Amino acid sequence: MNDEKMREAARLLKRSRHAVALTGAGISVESGIPAFRGAQGLWDRYDPSEYAHISSFMRNPGKVWGMLRELYRIMEQAQPNPAHHALARLEELGILKSLVTQNVDGLHQRAGSKRVIEFHGNGGTLICLSCGMEYPARDIRMDDLPPACPRCGGVLKPQVVFFGEPIPPRALEEAFEEADQCDVMLVVGTSAQVYPAADLPRRVAWSGGRIIEINLEETHLTQDMTHIFLQGSASEILPRLVELVEKS
Ligand code: OAD
Repeated sequence: MNDEKMREAARLLKRSRHAVALTGAGISVESGIPAFRGAQGLWDRYDPSEYAHISSFMRNPGKVWGMLRELYRIMEQAQPNPAHHALARLEELGILKSLVTQNVDGLHQRAGSKRVIEFHGNGGTLICLSCGMEYPARDIRMDDLPPACPRCGGVLKPQVVFFGEPIPPRALEEAFEEADQCDVMLVVGTSAQVYPAADLPRRVAWSGGRIIEINLEETHLTQDMTHIFLQGSASEILPRLVELVEKS
């Protein structure tokens, strides 16, 4: 049903000068990691005002770690899915110049993507809020919550952006530079409700670039600025799209 649109998207990508991808939680759903919004989303079970804001973490890190530990256990098991691999292949083909992700699961890098800008940080590292030491998350036991810094006993926090925290400055700068150069943006598995990440496709569209959106359902971008909307699961659509690019 998407056939003609798929071919058009493949043509656009093939002819692009500087294609960039923006990914969100939806791309990792088929790796077993729940998205935030929508049915079975994380925010259905955990109220974001109690779990997602940095002030909630500071007030009650043990409570927020209850949710984080659950996510870490899921992330430990997760493997990249065909959508992650397809984006890595598109970069290998020289078409995708960079990938901006809002995800903190590291699955793009594990699939082979090289130029990854992690807009909301990376859950693979924990930082001590007292002494600033950093630890790989896999080295830290999460039996007692919140996990304590092995050196000073301070509270450990994932190196991810909570609401109320700034975007890491380098990622912010690089992502906007990429958007400024981008003529085709592949927007995959994001509700585009969180800013400033959602400004990236806006910026591309306003400067005349084309947006190809892949999502199970329409978002507020779809009617406003998306050029080609490919409805369906990223792990089915992206490999087909990349195959068409390779054939064309
Ligand atoms: P959301 O949970 O808001 O949106 C996930 C999107 O993926 C939805 O639009 C779904 O329809 C779509 N989706 C789900 N499964 C899919 C699939 N298999 N294939 C394609 N699309 C699918 O996630 P994000 O937009 O990433 O921020 O959320 C943005 C930010 O909100 C997150 O980075 C996080 C959260 O609060 C912070 O923690 C700062």
